[in-house]
Formats: sequence, structure tokens, C-alpha cells
Amino acid sequence: MAVDRIRVAILGSTGSVGEQALDVVRGLSGRFEVVALAAGGNVGRLANQAREFHPRALFARPGRDADALRASGVAEWQPLDEMAVRDDVDVVLVATSGLASLRPTIAALRAGKPVAIANKETLVVGGHAVREALEAGRAAGAELRPVDSEHSAIWQCLWGEAPESVDKLILTASGGAFRDYDLAALDAVTATQALAHPTWKMGPKITIDSATLFNKGLEAIEARWLFDVPLDRVEVLQHRESVIHSLVQFRDGSIKAQLGEPDMRLPIQVALTYPERAAAQPAPPLDLAARGALHFGTVDGERFPALGIALEAGRRDDTTAAAVAGADEAAVEHFLAGRIQFTNIARLLRRALEAHAPTARPDLDTLLAAEAWGRRFVDEAVAARV
Ligand SMILES: NC(=O)c1ccc[n+]([C@@H]2O[C@H](COP(=O)([O-])OP(=O)(O)OC[C@H]3O[C@@H](n4cnc5c(N)ncnc54)[C@H](OP(=O)(O)O)[C@@H]3O)[C@@H](O)[C@H]2O)c1
Repeated sequence: MAVDRIRVAILGSTGSVGEQALDVVRGLSGRFEVVALAAGGNVGRLANQAREFHPRALFARPGRDADALRASGVAEWQPLDEMAVRDDVDVVLVATSGLASLRPTIAALRAGKPVAIANKETLVVGGHAVREALEAGRAAGAELRPVDSEHSAIWQCLWGEAPESVDKLILTASGGAFRDYDLAALDAVTATQALAHPTWKMGPKITIDSATLFNKGLEAIEARWLFDVPLDRVEVLQHRESVIHSLVQFRDGSIKAQLGEPDMRLPIQVALTYPERAAAQPAPPLDLAARGALHFGTVDGERFPALGIALEAGRRDDTTAAAVAGADEAAVEHFLAGRIQFTNIARLLRRALEAHAPTARPDLDTLLAAEAWGRRFVDEAVAARV
């Protein structure tokens, strides 16, 4: 029997997740149709993708190259929020960085689309509004499918389980580039050192967030929105090898885990083909005997203060997480530009957490304003060198 092709829109197709998603499409040739591709400034890469996948719609950030690609007429030119609600799209993959896809994600959910979400900022900043859109569109088919490996693992562990039987979600953390560094040496680490993640190859922002472990705090907040579980039932477990992608503990004490080689193509494929498990292995299968020992431990809160700050912000359940996420965007940019030390990232986040005047039950504009406040707070502190 012929199986319908899965028609996908990929927002952020030129990035690390976007390119790996297209690799998944190549590996399951004939199973997918790429309907729409959107990028930021890497127009050359987008043009190559268009030549290979023949999408019906394209978008890139306005500029000379984007104008030329648009004028070539190779595909319809369409902004992200329109792309995300196209009738001929079955699933929208959100793989942009920053907040570029926050409104498109909300629009897609309201329109009843399944959204495979890799982007963190959308959930961490806009969680309240995204969740509302999900509920509004659920009857029409809206769903959020996690793509990040940790959330994909939890999602897969939850399949077939009743919500009331879940005790806690356990996110694994490799510990990032500085897990074994002398604490006193952390002040002097460079951007190049921080960008060398021991197990994953990712974009720069998330790699620095992995080195501070702020990323794990963001993931805990994402888990709270994705799985509707309070943050105090989300735990972090250090696991150096990044082979167990995360776990769920049930009320009878049983633990389920999902394992695989650290390779984003597998969770991307799971999200795009759900509920089917496709007959293609996008990543090399895990050889446990060859791997030998797996290691676990608790996370060192002194080495990684940014994790505790993110969790504290998330627990407040108001605009604080958005403000601290904005502060982190700015702090990471300043660190990458060599303007602040690595350890100042967490110091600035702590100050933003303490200075923010929160709003309860925020709407989307209030959340975005809080995020912008966080960025500004850090920019001003760095400019004033205080
Ligand atoms: N990489 C991973 O393994 C991984 C794992 C889990 C979660 N995530 C999350 O997934 C998201 C993407 O991560 P990444 O590592 O793939 O980032 P990345 O390599 O920096 O890619 C970001 C993508 O977003 C595009 N983009 C940026 N601004 C845009 C705009 N205004 N309009 C349209 N497209 C825009 C970029 O386009 P150009 O390149 O053309 O500018 C690029 O395609 C992040 O939220 C990250 O935290 C990533």
C-alpha cells in the first residue's frame, strides 16, 4: 500500500539542526516532501538546498543575496508565520535560533499543526503563550513534538504511560567543556575552549550554554512546558557519555531510559515521522558492549551556578525565565566577543534574576518585553563595566 509522503516545512534549514534534518530527509528518500525552507543570512546554503529539494516556498533575512534569490523565482517567497500555517504542510520543524520562530510556532499550533520543536527560546521565553496556543489548536491536530535529544528521550519513555504514574523526569547532562576544569581556571577560559563541546556538535549559543550548564536549566524549563510537569519534578543527572539521553522515573520506582549515540539525526527523525518508527537508521546504532562503562554523578552547583539560576527563574512561573533567558543571550554574545570573562556570564544572570520586576500570568507581549529587558540589563552592565 502506498504511504503518503510527510510534507515538511523547516524553519532554520541552514543551521546545525536544519542541515541534520535535511540529512534525515535524504536518508528516507521518497518518505518526505520538503515544502518550505527558511533561513537567516546564509543565502548561499539556502540556494543549494533549494536546488536539491525543490521546495515550493523559501525565505531568508532581507539583503542583497536574499533579494537575488527571491528574484530568481525558484520558489514562492513567504515569511515564516505564513509558511508555518500552509495547508500543504503536515509538520513544521522549528530549528531557528533565538526568537525568530516564536510567533510562527504559535500560529502553527493555533492552526492545528504538529510542530517538531528544537528551538529552546520559544518555550523558555514564550512557554505560557505556546502552551495556550497548543490547547487552542489541539482538537484540530496541534501537537508539540520534542526534537532536543533529552526531551525526545523523555517523550519516548512516556509513550503509552498514564500521566499520573510519572514521578519525575530526569535530564542527563554531559557536563560540557569544563566539567573537569580546575574551578580557579574558569575565569581565564576562552571562547574557543568553551566552544569545544566534548560530545555534541551544535551552534555557538547552545554550546556556550552547555559549558555554563545554563542550557540544562533551559531544558528543565522546556520540559515543564512540553510535558506539563512542575519544575520541582524535573531533575538533572550528570552522565558524561551522553548515551542515555534522559530518563523517566515512575511512581512504582521503575526507571525508563532512552539510549543512542549522541547524534541529533535520530531524535529529528523520530519527531518528523511520529507516530511511525521509520525503517532507517540515521545515526550509527549504539554498541553498548563496545562502549563499556557508563558514568553518573550529581552536578556540581558551585562549578555551574548558571544552572541553579535558570531553575530558580523557571520555578517563579512568571516573566523571570524570559528575562533571564534574554540576559543570557546578551551575556553569551559579550563573552564570544571577548568583552567579559566566562564566569561573568553567571554573575550577570544572578544580577538580572535579582533585579527583574516580574509579571504573573504574562501574555506574549509581556514575555517578549521581559526578554528584551534582560538583554538590555546585561548590555548596560557590560557597557558600564559594573
Ligand atoms: N544544534 C543542536 O544539536 C541542538 C540540539 C537541541 C536544541 N537545539 C536548539 O535548536 C535551535 C537551533 O540550534 P542550532 O544549533 O541548529 O543553531 P544554528 O546552527 O545557529 O542555526 C540557526 C538557524 O536559524 C536560522 N535563523 C536565525 N535567525 C533567523 C531568522 N530571523 N529567520 C529565519 N531563520 C533564522 C539560521 O539561519 P542562517 O544560518 O542562514 O543565518 C540557521 O538556519 C536553538 O534554539 C538550539 O538551542 C539545537
